[in-house]
Amino acid sequence: MTSPIRVLAFSGSLRHGSFNTATLRAAADLAPEGMLIEVVDVGAIPLFNEDVERAGWPHQVTHLARRVANSDAVLFGCPEYNHSFTAVLKNVLDWLSRTPPGAQPGQYVLARKPVAIVGASAGRSGSGRAQIALRQTLSYLDTYALNQPEILIDRAQDKFDADGRLTDEPTRTVLAALLVDFAAWITRFGGSAPGVELVSAEIPTAHVCRANHGPVYGVAGDNYTIKATAAQTGGAYAAFEFYVPPGGGPPPHTHEREYEGFYVLEGELTFYVGPDRTRVIGHAGDFVAAPVGVIHQFRNESDAPARAFVIAAPAGVEGYFAAAGEPLPEGSTRTHPATDVDVARLTDLGPQWGIAIQPPAPVGSN
Ligand SMILES: Cc1cc2nc3c(=O)[nH]c(=O)nc-3n(C[C@H](O)[C@H](O)[C@H](O)COP(=O)(O)O)c2cc1C
Repeated sequence: MTSPIRVLAFSGSLRHGSFNTATLRAAADLAPEGMLIEVVDVGAIPLFNEDVERAGWPHQVTHLARRVANSDAVLFGCPEYNHSFTAVLKNVLDWLSRTPPGAQPGQYVLARKPVAIVGASAGRSGSGRAQIALRQTLSYLDTYALNQPEILIDRAQDKFDADGRLTDEPTRTVLAALLVDFAAWITRFGGSAPGVELVSAEIPTAHVCRANHGPVYGVAGDNYTIKATAAQTGGAYAAFEFYVPPGGGPPPHTHEREYEGFYVLEGELTFYVGPDRTRVIGHAGDFVAAPVGVIHQFRNESDAPARAFVIAAPAGVEGYFAAAGEPLPEGSTRTHPATDVDVARLTDLGPQWGIAIQPPAPVGSN
């Protein structure tokens, strides 16, 4: 075991004024001698997605897994949403239940890790129902969860001051008691889960994709260069350069997952967005964003090629372009008019990426 006892604390609420995060901060202040509690912000942990996991763990998740592996215990701040614990915590647990890069198959960093729970809610339950649900998952993950004392901070708004300091003395007393018991509990289990050895976390550095570089795909008559993938952005976004010849542009479609933003670099692109097909002509320097779930398309209605820098967040749609498109040599701007086969392929594969290709607008519609 490390000296002092190192505890990582995760809050299930990302809210700036979160009572649960404030409870963890209070725990860090009240920790007994020899125990160090570090509150970790998990707001940058992307939603778990097996495709992203397979493409390569986002560095922020690898970093988190390493920190858990190197800690002696974990403390959870557990808000209650709809009688259960929050998606934020579940997402962290789902990532940490997986085998991180460098570990042996089947190993994961939470196995046999001593854990404890504190929770605060605005209602009278003090997050009790959420804590029961969290215990169920923690038990399946084979953690060693401290059972007593329970920290159920009900009517939290009455127990913290305006600066988020825990002011309720009885609550401070029971929280301090929990931490003393937690220190003894951690010592009993000898701290860190044995046998989880991770290779050094890759230190992320700038991702650079130079001009005329990046994998290129011919996609239904256009030419897309992938400038950044999920593996290069921690799953946060993917980036592309689209080269659209005169007459080019995809059929109308919707994305269930991504927001897309188009920054026109050169030429002119005409966008049609929304059920009323609002028409926006984008020239070099203009930016147009298409929201999730909203039908849109763009066309090059000019007689010169157009180029756009495109960002899609979160990442993932690059896998669709690679699957549905035709690989072209790097730097190529080759295009060919879209065929029915190209469109059928886009249509058939789309649902795997949450993309629905819609029938083309009637000829003559704007
Ligand atoms: C989506 C949602 C669902 C909630 N459901 C519950 C609930 O089931 N039980 C409860 O006591 N409080 C519930 N609340 C109120 C939370 O306890 C309260 O917002 C609390 O401050 C959340 O924790 P935080 O302060 O750490 O963000 C809910 C709040 C939200 C936003």
